Amino acid sequence: MNDGDGTLAAQAQERRFGPLGTALVIIPTYNEAENIKSIVGRVRRAVPEAHVLVADDNSPDGTGKLADELAAEDDHVQVLHRKGKEGLGAAYLAGFRWGMDHDYGVLIEMDADGSHQPEELPRLLTALKGADLVLGSRWVPGGRVVNWPKSREFISRGGSLYSRLALDLPLRDITGGYRAFRRETLEGLGLDEVASQGYCFQVDLARRAIKAGFHVVEVPITFVERELGDSKMSRDIMVEALWRVTSWGLTERMGRIGGKGRPSKPDGSA
Ligand code: GDD
Ligand code: MN
Repeated sequence: MNDGDGTLAAQAQERRFGPLGTALVIIPTYNEAENIKSIVGRVRRAVPEAHVLVADDNSPDGTGKLADELAAEDDHVQVLHRKGKEGLGAAYLAGFRWGMDHDYGVLIEMDADGSHQPEELPRLLTALKGADLVLGSRWVPGGRVVNWPKSREFISRGGSLYSRLALDLPLRDITGGYRAFRRETLEGLGLDEVASQGYCFQVDLARRAIKAGFHVVEVPITFVERELGDSKMSRDIMVEALWRVTSWGLTERMGRIGGKGRPSKPDGSA
């Protein structure tokens, strides 16, 4: 891993990967009224040059209205109002499209509940100078989780391990949702075909990035469990993740058997 600070190597990387354009931090929300002001304020202080897009699914608790109030007093804050709850994946896809239509060079995923600390964003952006996609990772050395029950840690670690083995991905935190994409990376992922709705959306994008040959870097983060509001994790979201990851894995294996009969290398080549 290289976080590319001010050295000759960093300059060489910037030549290879190109300069970073303006960043848009996309924050999907469903019933985050207690969290939205704090998280937007923290992002604005941590990375003042970045812009924020709140993608709200018509939250019954009025999160969208609070976000409008923030947008009214800060020209770096925008709100995308969606008609109803359609899942994290759909909200991010709409946010990415909005960001690309508005010419942002970097698109960032961040939860509204404070689990992803805005103060760590500069480190993700520094790493992105030498990468196509940066994943905030709980499961690499230096990464950790604060205030999660053991049961939730087990599910999350298990989900990443299962995805890693089923899909042959050289990554440790595959389900995490704190990420920085170059726009060119998103353009190369075939977003129009993404159907994943819940947390497996994250697995889907990571697998597409690796398969497309993009340089994906994991940066350690400290994930802090929310103090206010409720997680939207549900049995349906887990079932969707399990069946989609399993079916992607089986499809890839059948493709290999039908092809050269040899497992592919982690870089996606045959
Ligand atoms: N617009 C919209 N629509 N936002 C949603 C929806 C939805 O249907 N569902 C959840 N969100 C928003 C929440 O309001 C929050 O800002 C963010 O998505 C994450 O939701 P949480 O409910 O807080 O997720 P979590 O803490 O259980 O899960 C986190 O960790 C998972 C991996 O362990 C997230 O970062 C997931 O992306 C990640 O897969
Ligand atoms: Mn959360």
